[in-house]
Amino acid sequence: MSEKYTIGLGNNDVILRKKANSDFVSFWDEQAHNLSWFSPWDRTLDWTPPFAKWFVGGTINASYNALDIHQNTKSDKPAILWEGENGDSKTYTYGDLFIEVQKFANVLKSLGVKKGDRVTIYLPMVPELPIAMLACARIGAIHTVVFSGFSAASIKDRIEDSKSKIVITADGGYRRGKIIKLKEVIDDAIKDFEFVEHVIVLERTKNKIYLSTKDKLWKDLMETISDSCDAEKLPSDHPLYILYTSGTTGKPKGVLHGTGGYLTHLYSTFKWAFDIKDSDVFFCTADIGWVTGHSYVVYAPLLHGATQIMYEGAPDFPDVSRMWDILQKYHVSIFYTTPTALRMFMKFGDDIPNSFDLSSLRLLGTVGEPINPEVWKWYYKTIGKEKCPIIDTWWQTETGGMMISSLPGVETIPLKPGSGTLPIPGTAISVVDEFGTEVPPNTKGYLIIKNPWPGMLLTLWGDDEKYKTVYWSKYPNCYYPGDYALKDDDGYLWLLGRADDVLKIAGHRIGTAELESCIVSNDDVAESAVCGIPDDIKGEVIIAFVVLKDGITTDKNILEKNLHVQIRNDIGAIASPKQIYFVSKLPKTRSGKIMRRLLKSIGNGEKIGDTSTLDDVSAVTEIQSIVQEKSK
Ligand code: WTA
Repeated sequence: MSEKYTIGLGNNDVILRKKANSDFVSFWDEQAHNLSWFSPWDRTLDWTPPFAKWFVGGTINASYNALDIHQNTKSDKPAILWEGENGDSKTYTYGDLFIEVQKFANVLKSLGVKKGDRVTIYLPMVPELPIAMLACARIGAIHTVVFSGFSAASIKDRIEDSKSKIVITADGGYRRGKIIKLKEVIDDAIKDFEFVEHVIVLERTKNKIYLSTKDKLWKDLMETISDSCDAEKLPSDHPLYILYTSGTTGKPKGVLHGTGGYLTHLYSTFKWAFDIKDSDVFFCTADIGWVTGHSYVVYAPLLHGATQIMYEGAPDFPDVSRMWDILQKYHVSIFYTTPTALRMFMKFGDDIPNSFDLSSLRLLGTVGEPINPEVWKWYYKTIGKEKCPIIDTWWQTETGGMMISSLPGVETIPLKPGSGTLPIPGTAISVVDEFGTEVPPNTKGYLIIKNPWPGMLLTLWGDDEKYKTVYWSKYPNCYYPGDYALKDDDGYLWLLGRADDVLKIAGHRIGTAELESCIVSNDDVAESAVCGIPDDIKGEVIIAFVVLKDGITTDKNILEKNLHVQIRNDIGAIASPKQIYFVSKLPKTRSGKIMRRLLKSIGNGEKIGDTSTLDDVSAVTEIQSIVQEKSK
C-alpha cells in the first residue's frame, strides 16, 4: 500500500467528471466555448478513425486567443517575465507582446509567407521565440520549432521534410556561460536548399556572423513595419504547428497539431491541473523546443492571460541554486519541472533550497518521465513545505496536452507519490494486454486511449500511412502511446516507462533506431545496438554496443571519440551514450532480432533471464566480460 497525501486547494467541482463520463463529445463542446471563436462550429467531432476533426466549421485563431482578447483588460499585465542566463531581465506585458507579434506577422507577410507555409524556428529561450510562433499563428503559417541543442544534420532533415521557406534563428544563444553559434549551424544546414528563401537573424549574443543575401536581421525588418495585423480567421483544424519527435523508426516524425481542438485541450487542462488564477506567477522550466514548452509555456498560459517566467539558460548556472533564486525573485506560485531536474537538485541537499524564501509556492508539477517516490516526497517536503499539491502529468508530443494528472483546480483527491493518478476528464484511458483485453488491477499492461480527444495530433506531416501504423494499428481504433502502465485498486494509473524502442534521457525522447543508424553510418561500423540503463539523475542513460567491420584495427579510443563526435554532429549532444562497448557480435534470436532485453540486463549488471531463443550464447559471455572489464 503506497502512502497517500491529501492536500487540496479548496476546489470541489463534483459535476465536471460526471458530465465528462456521460458524453465526452458534448463535454468537450462545452469546454470549447471558453475560447473566442470568429464563427461557431456546426459539428463538435468528425471521427473517421483514425482521423479526428474537432469543432468542424468553426473559425478561430491561436494568436487572437493568446493576445487580442486580453487587450481591454490586461494590456499592462506582464505576460512574460524573462530572465536571461547572464542576469539580464525584461518584461513583456500583454500590450507589448500584442504589438511585437503584429509587427513580426507583417514582417513574415512582407517576405511572402502565406497561410499554410512552413516556417522553421531555431532560437534560444528568448521572448522573440514565442513572438515568432504567435506571428506565424496569426497569419496561418505553420511553425516548426527545432530545439536549439540539435545539430546541423538534424535541423537539415527537419527543414527538408517541412520544406520551410523561411528560417528564423539567432547569432547565438547562451548555455552555461558559453555562446552556442546557432547561425553557423543554420548556414551549414541550409547550404543546399534553394527553397529556403530567407533567414531571419536575431542578434542575441552579438558574436560575429556571416550574412549572405538570403539573411535579414530581425531588428532591421522590425524597424519600420506596421504594428497592425489582423488575425486570420482559420478553420478549427487548420495546422498550427509541426513538432518533430523521435520514434521507433529511423527518422524523426513530424507531429502535426491543429488549432481549435488543441487550444481547447490546453485551456481546459491548464485550468483544471494548475488551478490558474489571475494573481498567479507561473514558471514552467521546459525549453520551447519541446512540446511542454509549446503547450504550457507558449499557448496555455497566454490563453488564460497568466503571468509567467521564461528562463533562458541552464537550471544549474551559475550554480544549482538558480531555480530557487528565480522562484524567490519573482514570487512564483506554480512551478512545473522535470524529475531529472528534481533529482539533480535533491542530490545537492536541503540547505540550498532552504536558504531561499519559497513561501509564494502553492502548486508543484512534474512532466516527462516517471518520478521516483522518494524524489516526489522530497519535492513535496523541501520545496512545497507540505502545503502544495503535486501534479504528476503524463502526456506526449502527440497528445498535445495532459492526459493523466490530478486536478487541484477541480477536486481534492489523495495523491500517491509516483502515480499520475487519474485520466483527464473526457478521455478514455485503459490498461490492456497484448490482445486488447483490460488487465486486472495491479497488473502491468499497455496504456491505450480509446476515444479521440481534442488535443490529439491531426496526423504525421506528409505521412498519413505512418500515422495509422505507428499509433493505430496495434489495437483497432485505439491510440497506442507506447507506454507500460498499471492501474491500482483505486483506479490510479502508474506509468512504468516505454514499451517500445524509445529512450527517455533526462526526459528527452531518443529513438534507438535513429541512434543506431547514426552509429552504423560510420565507415568502420558493421552493426550496433543501443539501450537505456537506469541513472540516478537522468532517469536513463544510453549504452551502445558496436560491432566493427572485419579488418578494422583502428585504436578503440580513437574510434570511440569519432563516434561521439558523429552522434553530436548528426543528432546532438543529448544522444551521446554514456558508454560505448566494442563487441564481436550482438546477441540475436534465431530469427536475427537483436535481444535488447539481454543487453539492458548486462549493462545493468543484472542476472540475465531466459536465453533459450538466443542463437549464439557466446555473444552474451563476451559482452558480459567486456562490460565488467570497463566498469572496473
Ligand atoms: C514519458 C513529454 C511517466 C512517457 C510531455 C511518454 C512520462 C513520453 C510522464 C512522451 C509522466 C511523459 N510519467 N512518464 N508524468 N510524462 N512521460 O513526447 O514515456 O517528449 O510516452 O512528451 O514521456 O514524451 P514527449
